Amino acid sequence: MGAARATVYHASDGNDWYNGIELVCEEGMEEDMAGVIKSSFGKLKSGVAVDLYTLTNKNGLVAKIMTFGATLTELHAPDKDGKMANICLGFDSVEKYEKGHPYMGSTVGRYCNRIGKGRFTLGGKTYKLATNNPPNHLHGGGPKAWDKVNWKAQIVARPDGPAVQFTYFSKDGEEGYPGNVNASVIYTLTEANTVKMEYAATTDKPCPINLTNHAYFNLKGKGTILDHELYIAAKSYTEGDEDLLPTGKILPVVDTPYDFFAQPAIVGDRLLAAGGKEPNIGYDLNYVLLPGAKGYATVARLSEATTGRLLEIRTDQPGLQFYTGNFLDGTLTGKGGWKYVQYSGICLETQHFPDSPNHKNFPNTILMPGQTYRTRTEYALLVK
Ligand code: BGC
Repeated sequence: MGAARATVYHASDGNDWYNGIELVCEEGMEEDMAGVIKSSFGKLKSGVAVDLYTLTNKNGLVAKIMTFGATLTELHAPDKDGKMANICLGFDSVEKYEKGHPYMGSTVGRYCNRIGKGRFTLGGKTYKLATNNPPNHLHGGGPKAWDKVNWKAQIVARPDGPAVQFTYFSKDGEEGYPGNVNASVIYTLTEANTVKMEYAATTDKPCPINLTNHAYFNLKGKGTILDHELYIAAKSYTEGDEDLLPTGKILPVVDTPYDFFAQPAIVGDRLLAAGGKEPNIGYDLNYVLLPGAKGYATVARLSEATTGRLLEIRTDQPGLQFYTGNFLDGTLTGKGGWKYVQYSGICLETQHFPDSPNHKNFPNTILMPGQTYRTRTEYALLVK
């Protein structure tokens, strides 16, 4: 791939590349940035133009991210013989994304996962959110949830690979949440074959923040994920009620179908015992991750025997939603005419625990004015 001409952005303090939302453009610093190509991905119904950024690293891996929902639309990774395939579910046009889909590759906010009955109380005031997953709030709510808005984007210079920063300003009261919030996510396709996502956010009023990426992986790039093997670094999970909302209890995984810690297991082997309401049986739960020694750890490994592909998830987050695409029902057709049926993809969403604003025993998710929310997750694309 060729190089795109772009503006190089430098951190305001001159050296802190991790300072996502404080990057500023230094005048006269234009130079060629290898590895990133910006193209048009079409227009939204409103006429707003959506751009697609194609990141290619020196090993030929490719990640495509569009401004609508700061969405990862494709991720091409090699198998054990070096053969590339797209291992993320997604669509070939912005129309299909805008029509509606279950968060494929989306950046999800302000609060990923569920908030019970769409309510939380902060500073004596009760806030009412959309109950778009009745009776609960899910993944930031309705039309202005962050997967459904067009983010601004700029190519940025990072030491470890081609990178693009996406930013979104969310107004006070948007989707019922308090505070004007400036959010950003930097995607870097590193030369070490990882897709790194670094999130940052600030607010001018206390507000719950919980951001994730909702990619659906299939390491064969076709078929189902029932034959994939999984390890999760968790000895416990947050119990969910019949609507998948935490009850507040944290339970051990040992001797349950949720145990992927004692030893890696094939996803399909115990799936029928994993729970869910017919016909949406399968895994859909939040794991309480073991804390990493340095606050950043490998928390899951997903692999597939025939291709040898191995996906490692690294994060600083306390939770991981493991979801086996139980609600996919064949009504959506993705790239290359691939019909997305139940279990076509697997989600491993790094996150804070669902419904934390309503559970005092869960780690805090309230961002205060003057603080900066930061979190980092990496998908490492390896072979076994
Ligand atoms: C949730 C599922 C939901 C899916 C798509 C996952 O994060 O846990 O219950 O169906 O997102 O919306």
